[in-house]
Amino acid sequence: MGAPAGADDSPRYFKGGAGTDVAAFVKENCLACHAVKPGDGASHSPAIRAELGPPLYYAGDKYREEWLLEWLQAPERIRPAGYYPPTHVRATPEGDVIDEASLVNHPVLDAKLAEEVARYLMTLTPYADRLAEEDYEPSTVPLRMARLDFRRFKGCVACHQDVKGEGGVSGPELYSAWSRLQPEFIVSFVRSPGQWNPGTMMPVLEMNDAAIHRLANYLKTIAEE
Ligand code: HEC
Ligand code: HEC
Repeated sequence: MGAPAGADDSPRYFKGGAGTDVAAFVKENCLACHAVKPGDGASHSPAIRAELGPPLYYAGDKYREEWLLEWLQAPERIRPAGYYPPTHVRATPEGDVIDEASLVNHPVLDAKLAEEVARYLMTLTPYADRLAEEDYEPSTVPLRMARLDFRRFKGCVACHQDVKGEGGVSGPELYSAWSRLQPEFIVSFVRSPGQWNPGTMMPVLEMNDAAIHRLANYLKTIAEE
């Protein structure tokens, strides 16, 4: 977590206790690195920006609670080059290299605290109306064609991995997207990323709803393969 090279970089570990005030805990220990309102983060200095994670103020519109519960106890890297890749990638004669040591070693919560924090984060739902407007019926699709669509025709693979170790590193990996994210969030975010996260580096790719639903179905299909 930004510790100087050679320092102990084991993650911070938090334990729940009787009567933890979850909102206060999150405010004190999480919000330094996670935006709490639209536009947060943009004004941070590059040093701080390197530690930032994605906004959490709409966590309840975005994540699946079961996923949060697991991940907070055993965080695995989602963004191979961090949330803000320019601060973690170095140009070398052999090409761009991720400076692994600069990536945040995420804090870990024990089971009790993870449960409370996950439940609290799920109450943060400022954009519930937006999700309710989505008309998406998830279904599985033939894998080969859907993969070709994701990789070749839509070019998503330039920034995202759909198989561990295969694909770009500037965006979050998407092989666990289906277990991580609510289906309606995926559809809504792909259509208008900036509406969710102003200043996001995910581009708007002009597609109709059928095309977006097909891509979401692909994420479901690879999750259940
Ligand atoms: C030192 C900065 C820092 C602190 C403190 C921190 N986080 Fe994070 N968080 C990050 C970064 C960076 C990521 C992106 C990790 C990745 O992509 O692998 C992240 C990712 C996450 C994610 C996954 C989100 C996603 O979609 O990628 C959740 C959930 C989360 N943090 C919750 C919390 C909670 C709850 C706390 C407080 C206990 C907390 N974080 C404290 C930096 C931090
Ligand atoms: C130029 C790079 C780039 C391309 C191309 C791209 N994305 Fe992204 N995508 C990103 C970045 C960066 C993020 C993280 C944005 C954020 O957190 O605000 C993202 C986020 C996402 C998310 C949300 C994941 C999460 O855990 O928050 C989904 C879903 C997604 N992209 C799907 C797609 C699909 C489907 C395509 C192809 C149609 C695509 N992306 C093409 C860069 C890209």
